Amino acid sequence: MKFEQIFQNNREWIEEKLKTDSDYFKNLSKGQNPDILYIGCSDSRVTAEELMGMKPGEVFVHRNIANMVPNTDLSAMSVINYAVNHLKVNHIVVCGHYYCTGVKAAMQSADLGLLNPWLRNIRDVYRLYKDELNAIDDEEAKYNRLVELNVQEQCVNVLKTAEVQKACRERRLTVHGWVFDIHSGKLIDLKIDFDKILNEIMEIYRIV
Ligand code: CO
Repeated sequence: MKFEQIFQNNREWIEEKLKTDSDYFKNLSKGQNPDILYIGCSDSRVTAEELMGMKPGEVFVHRNIANMVPNTDLSAMSVINYAVNHLKVNHIVVCGHYYCTGVKAAMQSADLGLLNPWLRNIRDVYRLYKDELNAIDDEEAKYNRLVELNVQEQCVNVLKTAEVQKACRERRLTVHGWVFDIHSGKLIDLKIDFDKILNEIMEIYRIV
C-alpha cells in the first residue's frame, strides 16, 4: 500500500463531496447528532457506516476485538456514557460477525499473552451456554452460534450500565443485537427479546 495513494484518495473524496454539496464540510463541522451507537468488531472486513449505508454524522462508533463490552473497559464504558448522556442516542447496536477471528481464538487452547484477559470474556460466554454449544456437532455452526451468543451477552452488558438502565426507562432507549454475515454481506437482526432478559437480570443488576 502506497500511503501517498491514501492522501490522493482523500483529495478525490473531498472533491466528490463538494461537487454535490459545497457546504458539506462546513455543515459537518457544526456538530454531530447521531441517533445510533454502533459497537462492532475491529475486523477490517466489517465496516460500520458502509454496511448500514449510513453517512458521516449519523452513527457514533466503537470498535474493538470481537465487539466486547467488558464493564471494566474504560474505553467502552466511556463511549456508552457519552453516547447516552450527551449525544442522547436512542439506539445502541452490538454487531458481531460470523468468521470472527477473535471469537475463534477464544475457543482454542492457546496462551495468547495480553489477549488472554480480553478473550477470557468470550470463554465466559461459552461457559454460560456450554450445554447448548456442546450439543452442536458441526464446528462451524457451533462457532457461528457462539458469535450470536456473544452479541447477546454484550448487549446484556450494555443493559447492566446505569446510564442505559435510566435511558431505557425514561426515553425508551432500545438495544439491538445484530450479526453481519461476511459470506453473504447480510446484516441479521438477532431479534433478542430484551424485555425478557431484563426481567431476568434486573433482580441482580438493577443500579438505578
Ligand atoms: Co471479529
